[in-house]
Amino acid sequence: MMKVLVVGSGGREHAICASIKKSPRVERIFCAPGNGGIAAIAECIPLSPMDFDGLVTFAKKEGVDLTVVGMDDPLCGGIVDAFSSAGLRVFGPRKNAALLEGSKVFSKGLMKKYDIPTADYRTFEDPEEAVAYLRSVSYPRVLKADGLALGKGVLIAESFEEAKEGIHTLMRSGKFCEAGNRVVIEEFMEGPEVSILTFTDGRTIKAMPSAQDHKRIFDGNRGPNTGGMGTFSPSPFYTREIHAYCQEHIYEKTIRAMAAEGRPFCGIIFFGLMLTGDGVKVLEYNARFGDPEAQVILPGLETDITEIFDACIDGRLEGQKLHFAKEAHVCVVLASGGYPGDYEKGKRIFGLENFKDKKDCYCFHAGTALSGDGEIVTAGGRVLGITASGKDVSEAREKAYEACKLVDFEGKYLRSDIGKSAEDMLSAKKAN
Ligand code: AMP
Ligand code: GLY
Repeated sequence: MMKVLVVGSGGREHAICASIKKSPRVERIFCAPGNGGIAAIAECIPLSPMDFDGLVTFAKKEGVDLTVVGMDDPLCGGIVDAFSSAGLRVFGPRKNAALLEGSKVFSKGLMKKYDIPTADYRTFEDPEEAVAYLRSVSYPRVLKADGLALGKGVLIAESFEEAKEGIHTLMRSGKFCEAGNRVVIEEFMEGPEVSILTFTDGRTIKAMPSAQDHKRIFDGNRGPNTGGMGTFSPSPFYTREIHAYCQEHIYEKTIRAMAAEGRPFCGIIFFGLMLTGDGVKVLEYNARFGDPEAQVILPGLETDITEIFDACIDGRLEGQKLHFAKEAHVCVVLASGGYPGDYEKGKRIFGLENFKDKKDCYCFHAGTALSGDGEIVTAGGRVLGITASGKDVSEAREKAYEACKLVDFEGKYLRSDIGKSAEDMLSAKKAN
């Protein structure tokens, strides 16, 4: 029987723990640091995901057989290297491969060198040169900080004035630290966005069902960007034909490119794709499960997830089965009022017990904590992710919104149109 350690504390890690919990091979799950909801299925360990020494010491002391890293910061910081050097088994890319997410200058360079479709771009280290270049281009234009920026490092400038201001914010204001030492300036593209999560052992790459995120805070994709207000899976935009194209021209090419660069990638690659009029293009790579994509993909995974992790680590993903239920899933995020700006924490959450015996509904905790008197309270901007399954996105959507009514806390905010674009697309298809 196995002991597994999961590193992270969000809704994604709750979904990963829930998947691991289904494995008959697992006897104990630890999560560092975990959260108020994860505590119901795993033993939460008060260690920071960046405390590699502390985590390694803990894993050795407890005899942890497998560690799974959910978050980008520790991956980019080399947590996998630290565990491997200590002789511990760990799922995720090494530091030199996590650079695929950690540096946009690196990932854009890789795509250019290996002819992987993406937006045309230029990179700059000198803000003056960036501004001079921005005088000569058409708008809108997209500016991206090179490094990790909690999803806040991408600006879409509508005019030269806005772009100039953007360069100041990214490179000079100090807000982005080292992440803003270099910028990528790229052409603006349009089209539906699709998230594809894949498992890879560095040689074989297998895609999970497609998903779509809703990044803006308000209905109709308006307002500022957030960490993600909800997801649905599968995406009706991501057809079999598109998948076949992506498998050959994007997914396999990417892992071959990484191997050729001496950076073999083992773990999850999340491809952020845009389906443009000019074909599928890569918007970005992430080196981990998406959040809240994991919350609509992992509930449908029927294969033992620990077997897939093992197959990736041992380089035998080719022979490993990967089976997902046919159902669609929708996840609606319940956020604290005011998010993504300032918001209050410590609000008591009511109704969580309503999810105990629900079979096709899940209440994933993102920003929750156990208060001193044992109550679960809000502790972040995104508080809960309510996922439901159904025969199609419409049914899953209806069930997810019904389930959102089962919980309450002061200031609870949610979008009301998660999955609506998929529903509209499917009804348009039926009408034709
Ligand atoms: P990224 O972190 O690179 O995925 O960018 C965050 C978001 O910015 C994406 O999900 C898109 O909505 C948007 N975005 C990024 N690059 C472009 C682009 N070249 N054209 C249009 N929108 C973009
Ligand atoms: N949902 C987008 C991300 O995980 O980065």
